[in-house]
Amino acid sequence: MEPGEGRLDVARVRGLFPGLSDGFVHADGPAGALLPESVVLAVAQAMRVPVADRGGVFPSSARAEGLVASARAAVADLVGGVPAGVVLGASMTALTYTMARTLARTWRPGDEIVVSRLDHDANIRPWVQLAEHHGVVVRWAEVDIETGELPAWQYEELLTDRTRLVALTAASSALGTRPDVAAIAQRAHAAGALVYVDGVHAAAHALLDVGALGADFLAVAADKWCGPHVGAVVADPALLDELHPEKLAPVPDRVPDRFESGTPPFELLAGVTAAVEHLAGLSDQATGSRRERLRTSMAAVAEYEGGLFSWLDQAMRAMRHVQVLGSAADTTPTLSFTIAGMRPRQVAVELARRGICAWDGDFYARELFDALGVNEEGGAVQLGLMHYNTADEVGYLVDSVASLRPR
Ligand SMILES: Cc1ncc(COP(=O)(O)O)c(C=O)c1O
Repeated sequence: MEPGEGRLDVARVRGLFPGLSDGFVHADGPAGALLPESVVLAVAQAMRVPVADRGGVFPSSARAEGLVASARAAVADLVGGVPAGVVLGASMTALTYTMARTLARTWRPGDEIVVSRLDHDANIRPWVQLAEHHGVVVRWAEVDIETGELPAWQYEELLTDRTRLVALTAASSALGTRPDVAAIAQRAHAAGALVYVDGVHAAAHALLDVGALGADFLAVAADKWCGPHVGAVVADPALLDELHPEKLAPVPDRVPDRFESGTPPFELLAGVTAAVEHLAGLSDQATGSRRERLRTSMAAVAEYEGGLFSWLDQAMRAMRHVQVLGSAADTTPTLSFTIAGMRPRQVAVELARRGICAWDGDFYARELFDALGVNEEGGAVQLGLMHYNTADEVGYLVDSVASLRPR
């Protein structure tokens, strides 16, 4: 089978994305995906009709209530949770700060947490800062700098009976590495710790299951899977019920509402629901409940992206002037690379000149890129594939990178 052939009809899929008409090759998905027209329309429709705040006795208030309930149900389907355990918020970062502040209220001096060097800073800094405020010891899970993997075995030594929390990513948006979250979570639970998983990058490329991962909290952000900028943290409602965030007095005490501050962007929540529907409808063969359609469609996405990516990855590694960071066996269709003698910004400028959107820098994986020693040189260049990228585009990416040489 040629790369790109399979269960995903990419020509049909591309027709769903008005943004593709700019003619660029969008290899910048890990920082934010393009939006399908269905999401744009859903947001616009929620702004066209009257939508008031929640809690009123008139139809436009009921509409607001419905938009919140639909978004919770959609995110729950996406990650295998329940709607009552879906906390919605401005971004994964904002929600993780809320959760860190809330959990830290239960920590005692001398308690311990474990963060990972592989993670985006949004799943490191909130925990480290709150640990500092509460006299809590921070332990670091290290990355194998050759492979970019986060070995699970090290958690045996990192976990103690004082460990309260383990924070780690389901996939690095810098290297694509997917750690064995389930194995790490099992060890963490045996030590009595809670597990907070960053699913932001992972959720765009495979169907997540909060239970199978062993995540007590799973954080996602809709802009990474073709939705608007809205974050969500999914947990067992019974666990949320044990936690007490700082909140305004009139905010309802029920979960998950007590974790949500201020009036939500109702129109964007309509977009979140539409984005999950978009993912669920990606395979023509998807039938059944939305979770079942997501399972079929995300399997087709994973197969399609995986085929394209193995070609891209192999071609990049075969180029003598290119260094691809890491070599993990299990990754998303995302890689970061450097070119000897060229700053990543220069590479990104050259790629942009050739009509390619590619990010350069540290992608907020500051700790990881410090460990890999690439930050002094400006980080790396990232190429990330989404379900709307094509084999032709991968060929063009490969040719374009091959043509780059230091001046
Ligand atoms: C892996 C990962 N985690 C966390 C975040 C932060 O998400 P947000 O922008 O919603 O705060 C990002 C954003 O790019 C990310 O890629």
